[in-house]
Formats: sequence, C-alpha cells, structure tokens
Amino acid sequence: MRIGVLTGGGDCPGLNAVIRAIVRKGIPEYNYQFVGFRDGWRGPLEGHTRTLDIPAVRGILPRGGTILGSSRTNPFKIDNGVERIRQTLMNLGVDALIAIGGEDTLGVATKLHELGVQVIGVPKTIDNDLSGTDYTFGFDTAVGIATEAIDRLHTTAESHHRALIVEVMGRHAGWIALHSGLAGGANVILIPEIPFSIEKVCDWVNSRFRTQYSPIIVVAEGATPINGTMELVTRETDAFGHPRLGGIGESIAREIEQRTGKEARTTVLGHVQRGGTPSSRDRWLATRFGLHAIDAVHDAAWGSMVALRGTDIVRVPLSEATEKIKTVDPSLYAEAEVFFG
Ligand code: F6P
Repeated sequence: MRIGVLTGGGDCPGLNAVIRAIVRKGIPEYNYQFVGFRDGWRGPLEGHTRTLDIPAVRGILPRGGTILGSSRTNPFKIDNGVERIRQTLMNLGVDALIAIGGEDTLGVATKLHELGVQVIGVPKTIDNDLSGTDYTFGFDTAVGIATEAIDRLHTTAESHHRALIVEVMGRHAGWIALHSGLAGGANVILIPEIPFSIEKVCDWVNSRFRTQYSPIIVVAEGATPINGTMELVTRETDAFGHPRLGGIGESIAREIEQRTGKEARTTVLGHVQRGGTPSSRDRWLATRFGLHAIDAVHDAAWGSMVALRGTDIVRVPLSEATEKIKTVDPSLYAEAEVFFG
C-alpha cells in the first residue's frame, strides 16, 4: 500500500515527530510505502512530492517546522481542485492520505472523505481549538514560550512602572492566552470568546498600579472589545476566509495610555510561538498520534481522526472533529478572573 502524507495550515512544533512516527512504524510493521506531499493541499493538487522513507526521517524528532512544508491552499477554492487531487493520487498509485492539520486542513480532509478519498486525520494546531481531542500537539510548546515571555516582562514592567500588553495567537479561541496568562500570573486575560470592556481593563490596570505592581495584560489576537467601544482595523482574508489578525494589543495600549495616563507598551509574540523545537510533551503526543494514525490506516478506519482523551489515543469521525471549533468555556475563564486587577 502507498500512502501520501501532508502537513497543512500554520506550522506547529511536533509536525516532524508525527511524520517520523508514521514512517518508522509504517515501513517495518506494515510494509507500506510513503509519498511526502509538499506544502499542504498544494502538493496533491500540483503533484509536488518528496521522498519519505526511513533515512528521510532520521534526526527530525526535535526539529520545529515541517520537512514537508505547509500552505493554506484550499482545493475547494480552486477550479477542478478535487479532480486534480484524485488524478495525482491515481498517477502516483497513492491509495490513502494522512492529513496532519487544523480545522481548515482537516475540513478539506472531511469533504474529500465524503467524496470517496481514503483519508485519516491528525490534529495539529498551537491554538488547541480542534474539537474531539483534549489537546493538539504544538499547544504545550506555544504556552511554554508565552509563559516565559510573561515572566520576563514582569521585571521590566515593574522597573519602568508600565502596563505591558502581551499579544498571543488565538484567532477564535483563547486557549494560549488563558493557559499562559494563568501560568504567568497575568493581571488581565482577554480572549475571543468573551468581548471585553476597555473601561474594566483600565480599572484593573489602575488597581494593579495602586498595589505598587505593574500590570501584565495577556490578549489573544482574536479578542474583541464590546461592540462600538473601541476602533478596530479591518484586515485581508486568506483562502479559508480568515482575516489576518494582529494589532489588538497596540489598540489596547493606546486606550490604556489615554484613559489612565500610564505608559503602556505591547509585545506581539507572533510566529515565535510556533517556531523552534517542540516541548517534550508535544514530542510525546505527536509521536503517539503518528503511531496511531498508521494503525488507523491499517484498520482502514477512513474518515477518522486520532485524538487524545485523557491519556488514551482514540479515533473520532473527522466530520465530528471539524464541525465546530473548541472554544474556552466561560467557567474556565471565570477561574482566572480571581487574579484580575
Ligand atoms: O492557525 C494557527 C495560527 O497560529 C493562528 O493562531 C493565527 O491566527 C494564524 O495561525 C497565523 O497564521 P499565519 O502564519 O498564516 O499568519
């Protein structure tokens, strides 16, 4: 059997660990052959491949990024996209695909499965917002990086008596903001799920200054103020219709300076959260996902995604995992509010 492997969407620490585990188990145990598709769905669309055998995956376990490359290509937005993918698979004698990705990449995998393509999904995203799995790999690394940044910002904030805003990734879900904010002792955490009051944020900033400490505000890039209370910038969208975010931290800093008279500065962590070596937990999770994905191929469990439930790896229907994203429950946010201000 010949299996195509691709990685799509934003890159994520642990992608190489998944690829390695798939190949390291798939070849000796099941005698499979692999084709690496380059740059997400663009690979099967355009027939761009690379060798994927055991020598190709040597030494990649701790390496960030993806040896296969990635893109946000959406075949359903391209003329004859699905037909072109089918044709490539036929030409290369590829029987099945393992798609490693987030909501968009696996959304495409779900639709392809419904159209008869044999697909298995592996959940990746630093945002941790995929349904059906307790955690995605990449999240732990991103939270670690954000927490370290918050720790460092505390000391400089206090030396200068400034409010410091840390903008982290999280388009629709505030998991990175919530976990790193809680771990780093943030004084305010703002997430996309709960529109914020800038007035309240400024009250918390003032109360923090009154205790002789400087406030750290952690904001997810997708957080929004209550309608009509702050001006926002409109951004261009990608092939999946998502706006390119960034800038909410700067807007909050401006408002804080105007409303409180205190100095405020913003640090945008951006792609630093996604780059570099995965944490040991992400290597562990990504490796297990890879091992179970190749077992799912062997069992012909087409249309399923491997997922973490507690400490078990299970299979869930791709359609269920991509139906809606997993957002932060208000009760979890309420836990963190104890430390605001
Ligand atoms: O989807 C993961 C993610 O990290 C989002 O949190 C963020 O909005 C987006 O990727 C940024 O993507 P890009 O690298 O395309 O700017």
